Amino acid sequence: MDLSPTSPEAQARALTVLGMESSCDETAAAILRRSASGETEVLADLVLGQMEAHAPYGGVVPEIAARAHAEAMDGLVAAALKEAGLTLDEIDGIAATAGPGLIGGVMAALMTAKGLALGSGKPLIAVNHLEGHALSPRLSEDVTFPYLLLLVSGGHTQLLIAEGIGKYSRLGSTLDDAAGEAFDKTAKVMGLGFPGGPALERSAVTGDATRFALPTPLKGKPGCDFSFAGLKTAARQIWDGLEAPSEQDKADLAACVQQAIARSLASRSARAMAMFRERFQDEQAPAFIVAGGVAANKTVRSTLDQAAADHGFELKAPPMRWCTDNAAMIALAGLEHLAVGDVDELNAPARARWPLDESSAKLAPVIGSGRKGPKA
Ligand code: KG4
Ligand code: ZN
Repeated sequence: MDLSPTSPEAQARALTVLGMESSCDETAAAILRRSASGETEVLADLVLGQMEAHAPYGGVVPEIAARAHAEAMDGLVAAALKEAGLTLDEIDGIAATAGPGLIGGVMAALMTAKGLALGSGKPLIAVNHLEGHALSPRLSEDVTFPYLLLLVSGGHTQLLIAEGIGKYSRLGSTLDDAAGEAFDKTAKVMGLGFPGGPALERSAVTGDATRFALPTPLKGKPGCDFSFAGLKTAARQIWDGLEAPSEQDKADLAACVQQAIARSLASRSARAMAMFRERFQDEQAPAFIVAGGVAANKTVRSTLDQAAADHGFELKAPPMRWCTDNAAMIALAGLEHLAVGDVDELNAPARARWPLDESSAKLAPVIGSGRKGPKA
């Protein structure tokens, strides 16, 4: 049988892939199987958070994260195999996030994957974490290419067009902080607790979103990059100016910050929708996917929903467990690459920075650094 990567036989082969993820503060292992007829099934999907370890510091501490990943990774892989009822022999490929992310953490999954690949003789697939997020909606729905994706997490704020496997173009990215960082850092200043995003959303419920005037980042600026540093500073100044802030003051500021972040995400996304329309004029109701932890925020979602409706897009969000960091999306990206014979050598590097769309990153390098390192 001809099993060259592009042969119909290779394409139609059933594949089972183990995926691993450790680029930020979630250790994860998952096993995905795609049948010869093309149905994908998640056989195991385990995620171990580290929230308690980082909570005393009010943010992710890279060294603590790296150590916790290294300690948990092996056991999690064993548990995933057990849950799937498989042995390593029955796995066709071993995929791991190889970047971008906190480098000490990235190494935990990648080195474990390399060890397993070396020991078992199975191919290694070094996955770009952002490609995992970009493909994540396809874990739960039949989302067809091309689609527009807004990735909003603690480490990333990016707008991408996914045109096909391995074919992504970045339309915009943050120039400074990620949206999740803006939530987290403001919540920290206001003493709302960690992780800040959900805490700030809870506080905002009883707040008046019209009380404080906050700047609109990059207002009227062309393109669809983001910026949240100015907003964060303005919120801090308002907070510092409040004498003995009451619960109502807190709630009002939380509501204003949440509204400003949501509005900024929606207005920059609207520009991306227009850019998408220029490139794909015949697409009827294309999908606008929002993924990442910030997608859990109800105000963000409803503001994006409105923007999508205004521009003839359909907003879709993967279920929360695949919206935030997970290994099922890494296994899926690995599986897609394995299916076409695109596998990596055992010397594949761990990368703190790894733009998904290398060509546009070279033309428009994005500066700044945050929870996950430079915003590539
Ligand atoms: O995708 P994620 O779980 O992890 C990565 O950063 O990769 O995203 C975490 C981010 C944090 O900044 C967290 O505060 C934010 O998502 N987040 C929220 C909410 N839930 C999580 N931000 C605003 N509102 C929420 N409900
Ligand atoms: Zn992520």
